[in-house]
Amino acid sequence: MTETKDYILQVKNLAVSFETFFGEVEAVRDISFDLKRGSKLAIVGESGCGKSVTANSIVQLLPKPPVVYKGGEILFNGENLLDYDNKQMMDIRGNKISMVFQDPMTSLNPTMKVGKQITEGVRRHENLSEDEAKKLAIEMLDLVAVPQPERRAQQYPHEFSGGMRQRVMIALAMAAKPELLIADEPTTALDVTVQAQILDLMKKLNKEMGTSIILITHDLGVVADMAEEVIVMYAGQILEKGSVHDIFKDPKHPYTRKLLAAVPKINMERSEVLHSIEGTPPDLYKPPKGCSFYDRCPNAMVICEDHMPDLQSHGGIHCSRCWLNHKDYPQGGKQVEGE
Ligand SMILES: Nc1ncnc2c1ncn2[C@@H]1O[C@H](COP(=O)(O)OP(=O)(O)OP(=O)(O)O)[C@@H](O)[C@H]1O
Ligand SMILES: [Mg+2]
Repeated sequence: MTETKDYILQVKNLAVSFETFFGEVEAVRDISFDLKRGSKLAIVGESGCGKSVTANSIVQLLPKPPVVYKGGEILFNGENLLDYDNKQMMDIRGNKISMVFQDPMTSLNPTMKVGKQITEGVRRHENLSEDEAKKLAIEMLDLVAVPQPERRAQQYPHEFSGGMRQRVMIALAMAAKPELLIADEPTTALDVTVQAQILDLMKKLNKEMGTSIILITHDLGVVADMAEEVIVMYAGQILEKGSVHDIFKDPKHPYTRKLLAAVPKINMERSEVLHSIEGTPPDLYKPPKGCSFYDRCPNAMVICEDHMPDLQSHGGIHCSRCWLNHKDYPQGGKQVEGE
């Protein structure tokens, strides 16, 4: 039985909105998930489904206002980060929790040599002498497979290629030996070979340093190899959650199946077409009353239009939010009793 102390992170009923001039955008709507210490979780879903808002809520990088936390808890080692003040959060960020973004330039300082940036990051959090910090910066560059780390440490970010810059950012993120690394689309802008190298690197860091990882991606293709558990998000909600095996071998939600059908396969014939998902996600200014996938769902039923199902367990951590698999709606297509 897993106990609370085995979880590095527990997100409970988190709801996050943007209060804008035009009204409230319900970007994250009541999501819950747990991350076991030392494990790897992937969050997948199309653009705009709330992946980054979820990640940035954990590290509290969203400006308040317009962001409002409508409810829920983000327990990191059992403490609710939503109760932390700025100073406490600064201590957590880059120390216990590091983030890697799609664009490395958002975290790198263009006017500072990369070795120095890594060193500064470390010295802020640990009492190292200048020499020790320098040595660590070179070790970190070496660990992320930057060739000639002593020489490279003396260069500026613009002297690095995109892939190398991403490695520097991971070195920077890892230098403080965080307990949790959140990578938000870290490889989307990179070519496939570099992408594979960066993902391997993250796996190595997880294995060698025990760092827990949350990987955010809209590409289910990279997930099977990278994570143990997967969350499928849509329109600010979790539609399905499970182990990699559950999601890839026994997907329960039509949206997950559509996402899987959109992943290119290695042995794919040229004549086979990739099935992109028709239509667009709903507007989160006014989220639909019923199932948020109703408009695009090939299996939509009468009940789906006006009634949002809750998450149903399929055993273990596997659960999905769909009337097709709902205990109150066993035959799908027939009305719920009393409706
Ligand atoms: N500053 C903002 N003001 C209003 N709405 C916002 C703001 N930032 C994000 N949103 C809304 O919040 C929702 C979730 O956005 P989020 O950035 O988390 O999506 P995402 O899943 O990370 O997408 P992507 O794959 O494109 O990065 C979207 O509907 C978006 O329009
Ligand atoms: Mg995003």
